[in-house]
Amino acid sequence: MGESSGMAVGLLHPGEMGAAIGAVLRARGEVVMWASAGRSSASVERAERAVLEDVGDIEALRDRCEVLISVCPPHAAVEVARAAVGFSGIYLDANAVSPATARTVAGLQERFVDGGIVGPPPRQAGTTRLYLSGAEAEQIAALFAGTKLDARVVSDAPGAASAVKMAYGGWTKGSAAVLLVARALARAEGVEGVLLQEWRISQPELDARSIAAASSALEKGWRWVGEMNEIADSMVEAGLPDGFHRAAAEVYRRASGGSEARNDPSQQVFAALLAGTGKKS
Ligand SMILES: NC(=O)c1ccc[n+]([C@@H]2O[C@H](COP(=O)([O-])OP(=O)(O)OC[C@H]3O[C@@H](n4cnc5c(N)ncnc54)[C@H](OP(=O)(O)O)[C@@H]3O)[C@@H](O)[C@H]2O)c1
Repeated sequence: MGESSGMAVGLLHPGEMGAAIGAVLRARGEVVMWASAGRSSASVERAERAVLEDVGDIEALRDRCEVLISVCPPHAAVEVARAAVGFSGIYLDANAVSPATARTVAGLQERFVDGGIVGPPPRQAGTTRLYLSGAEAEQIAALFAGTKLDARVVSDAPGAASAVKMAYGGWTKGSAAVLLVARALARAEGVEGVLLQEWRISQPELDARSIAAASSALEKGWRWVGEMNEIADSMVEAGLPDGFHRAAAEVYRRASGGSEARNDPSQQVFAALLAGTGKKS
């Protein structure tokens, strides 16, 4: 692992991914701060576990840090960048947003680096990549050198790293949503058993994949609605059809639910898809 950079890093905010990124930087010896004002007790707990220094509010973070890293739900990325306007260090937006949203964030910050994360929160080496683009992307890559997060510079163009994330998620989460509605259709028409038999013959992996997709949608689908809409916006910008991912947003909106019945996610998710309301039946 490389020597610490000596740059104070601020994290906006320690969610599941953000706290893990804070922890990999702490493990490298970096000073990592965060702002608890307005955040939930879950964020406080994650920040404490990652041993991040609480400086109170975003103004203090802006004044004390040389790098700010935004890791928040995609729909909040612009609002979070706006709250940090006036920051003079490097601002990394690592959220699942469209290239256009990334460029909107770039317009709010003096020194902007675009980022896109692929993989789970980095708790071991080799699982997770941070794609980076922008004039100062190499400086952010250097910050993560030797850590469990594999930082890779795509180009110097803001938006390029986000485009990688949009294309990647467009397939992984988009195709999972298509699988869910295909099985829901068979259930609606009373032929799910026949579809499962056919899958066993010709697509033997799809039964388990659809159950795994239902389980993920139930637990995390609410977070993916914004990401699917960002992907759809990216498609429009590139002159491609956006309907798949608008529909995927609707699938994840309907499928995501509360904590009950998690022992049978497929029942709950397929029922919610067919009910069309997102409410459990
Ligand atoms: N989790 C993953 O496996 C994963 C994988 C790849 C990429 N990512 C990307 O990482 C980003 C964050 O995901 P996550 O899983 O860490 O999400 P998360 O666990 O839901 O955490 C989001 C963090 O942002 C804060 N937040 C929520 N709404 C906000 C708002 N309106 N304004 C400001 N802050 C807000 C939350 O704080 P409070 O709860 O205190 O409000 C929390 O600290 C997303 O862009 C996602 O696409 C995540």
